Amino acid sequence: MPVVKIQQNQQRVNDFLESALAQVTVNEPRLHQAMNHGLLLGGKRIRPFLVYAVGEMFGLEKSQLDHIAGAIEAIHAYSLIHDDLPAMDDDELRRGQPTCHIAFDEATAILAGDALQTFAFELLCQAPQSDAQKVQLMQCLTKASGYRGMCGGQALDLAATDRSVTLEQLEQIHRLKTGALICAAVELGAIAANASSAHRELLSTFAQNIGLAFQVHDDILDVIGDTETLGKPQGSDEAANKSTYPALLGLEQAQDKAKQLIEQAISSLQALPFDSTLLQAFARYIIARNQ
Ligand code: IPE
Ligand code: IPE
Ligand code: MG
Ligand code: MG
Ligand code: MG
Repeated sequence: MPVVKIQQNQQRVNDFLESALAQVTVNEPRLHQAMNHGLLLGGKRIRPFLVYAVGEMFGLEKSQLDHIAGAIEAIHAYSLIHDDLPAMDDDELRRGQPTCHIAFDEATAILAGDALQTFAFELLCQAPQSDAQKVQLMQCLTKASGYRGMCGGQALDLAATDRSVTLEQLEQIHRLKTGALICAAVELGAIAANASSAHRELLSTFAQNIGLAFQVHDDILDVIGDTETLGKPQGSDEAANKSTYPALLGLEQAQDKAKQLIEQAISSLQALPFDSTLLQAFARYIIARNQ
């Protein structure tokens, strides 16, 4: 992964989000602080990276993609705040900081998550795309983040805690809770670029494979990572008796699975008539990363 590229995109979306959030008026300063905490303190920004990388592959400028990149990161930030709540994974560390409900309180964390979710759609409304494109962008992001996507997956994840599930069930959980939003990042970039349905289909195969691989590798890092590098508590899944790939398959088979998914992702890119070097490098980074 060309490090400089991920850092450039990271900086760009950070600057965009910081300025967008500084411009809103939130009557309760504590809520505003909690939104800032959840959205602006760290994070790899891989979903914005994908929005920029896909859009730019089709020739768009970054300035045409900022609102979309910011919107998907705001949804992701909301999902993490809620994921860490005592009623869900009950974690106290995120991105090397106390989680939102620890830094503030539970009610404020719930509201900050809610507010970041609607902030995402506020950003999309302000995007420079045409109204018709914006409707498509909204449809894509609502589907991926709601009951048919991330929320639905989180519900299945909770239902699978303290239980044994089949590999098929676990795959569905991971595709929904994490894969859906990663697929949306790719799809949003393609919608902004008015990509053809044939190109969108190839990209969708790529996205589904990296989306599942991303969560399989996240499960692996929970086993082999260290808390300081991860910025979140290593071993949290095992402590909470979560259904994960290493728990179900063992570490080695989980690693093999992630590798296979990345190979499949890369091969679907090869049929695209564009330079997909950056997306290929990104796919490799997903299973090479240590945070
Ligand atoms: C963590 O996502 C939660 C999952 C969906 C696995 P990231 O690994 O993208 O977290 P940040 O944004 O970099 O903190
Ligand atoms: C979280 O999966 C997925 C979402 C936040 C939607 P995890 O619970 O494994 O994420 P981490 O490990 O806490 O980041
Ligand atoms: Mg979770
Ligand atoms: Mg969690
Ligand atoms: Mg995890």
